[in-house]
Amino acid sequence: MLTTETKNEILAELAHSETNRMACIESLKIAQRQSGWVSDEELCEVAQLLGLTPDEVDGVATFYNLIRRRPVGRHVILLCASVSCWVMGYAALRAGLAQTLGVEPGQTTPDGRFTVLENQCLGACDHAPVLMIDNDLYRDVDAEKLGDILARYA
Ligand code: FES
Repeated sequence: MLTTETKNEILAELAHSETNRMACIESLKIAQRQSGWVSDEELCEVAQLLGLTPDEVDGVATFYNLIRRRPVGRHVILLCASVSCWVMGYAALRAGLAQTLGVEPGQTTPDGRFTVLENQCLGACDHAPVLMIDNDLYRDVDAEKLGDILARYA
């Protein structure tokens, strides 16, 4: 359920948008800040605030890969699986994450601390391989650096 504060943020976003549809992605991002993902109930609330149907909003939510429709851990690790990172060490990084956290992409650690998701290019190809944790981008990552990086997230 969206909080009053979140609803007000969405309404403020709507007030600055030329059309309701233009406010959709940003409204979903605002809704997602509450718990890291957007539930069916929250999606319907967003739709109601924007004057759109739930199907219209769900179509945007499932198209835009940074909107999550399933629960995630406290921190989300986006592992770049696009070509530059794939060539420069994606497999070793994925294996390092699996060894350190005991999960594969698409899974959440049993303690709810991390969810690992594969993602398309994160826009730092010249520093591949790359991963992002929450809003922090890490470049030139290798398995040896993983421990120090992960320790920053409680
Ligand atoms: Fe990984 Fe671009 S391919 S950041």
